[in-house]
Amino acid sequence: MKLLHTIDEMGAFSRNARSGSKRLGLVPTMGALHEGHVSLVRAAREKSDVVVVSIFVNPTQFGPSEDFSRYPRTLEKDCALLERESVDAVFAPSSNEMYGSGSITWVTVEAISDRLCGRSRPGHFRGVTTVVAKLFNIVEPDIAFFGQKDAAQVAIIRRMVRDLNFPVAIEVCPIVREADGLALSSRNVYLGPQERKSALVLHRSLNRVKEKFDHGEGNALKLIVSGKEEFAKNPAARLDYLEIVDPNSLEPVADISKPVLVAVAAFVGNTRLIDNLVLAPTR
Ligand code: PAJ
Repeated sequence: MKLLHTIDEMGAFSRNARSGSKRLGLVPTMGALHEGHVSLVRAAREKSDVVVVSIFVNPTQFGPSEDFSRYPRTLEKDCALLERESVDAVFAPSSNEMYGSGSITWVTVEAISDRLCGRSRPGHFRGVTTVVAKLFNIVEPDIAFFGQKDAAQVAIIRRMVRDLNFPVAIEVCPIVREADGLALSSRNVYLGPQERKSALVLHRSLNRVKEKFDHGEGNALKLIVSGKEEFAKNPAARLDYLEIVDPNSLEPVADISKPVLVAVAAFVGNTRLIDNLVLAPTR
């Protein structure tokens, strides 16, 4: 496995790897890898000939009061894990390598980027789309793998790929959870033992919504009220949003007549967690 730090090295590796019509798969990450990331790597291994994982804690997607400086950085451990997963190359550039000292160009997907997490984290998705566009240009993957865990991110990247004609197929992998239902996240390491218990409220509230929906409730407002009741019972978690939206436009849906995304975000202590599920009517 090659560990590459510069854009030139990465570009040369990709050009060489793709010769002879090999398919290159890219898994973009911010490191501190867990089984959720591993599931993406395994999907990439299965569907592509050459697998590249990028590890870059992207400063432009963090707000000024967010956790950029304390975000876990575990490059050595991550590389050992990726080596075991037969990854071909890891691209781990510095901030200076990616942005230099004066980058003033952004990629913005309008409107959708201001919904869900985009509303609570202004500029977050602009940072995500800019860095993903840069990674696509540098690595030139045939396929890129993303997790359903970040469902809004998926919608926004799909739209960017469509609007800017990136020749990249987007593959989305299911959410990987702990045995008790907590969605895996690099941020779970921030949680103390009591917070770890409180964090289950996200999954519980989604399950409550699903249960009601499965019993015939199709009104989004009523479903949201029942999901929010779980938060009322658990004051240690502060709800940011619980919304039912169209999975592509991220616009709120009133009645569920086609598949919808139920998305939740909440603070447990200082840690911001997200989770979601898709509800699909059977008729
Ligand atoms: P990061 O949070 O490291 O996540 C990298 C990828 O792993 C994302 O596509 C995310 O959806 C996926 N992932 C995280 N937790 C998961 C889980 N429990 N199950 C399945 N997949 C999971 O998302 C980012 O980094 C960044 O925004 C990035 C796209 C790399 C741009 O900087």
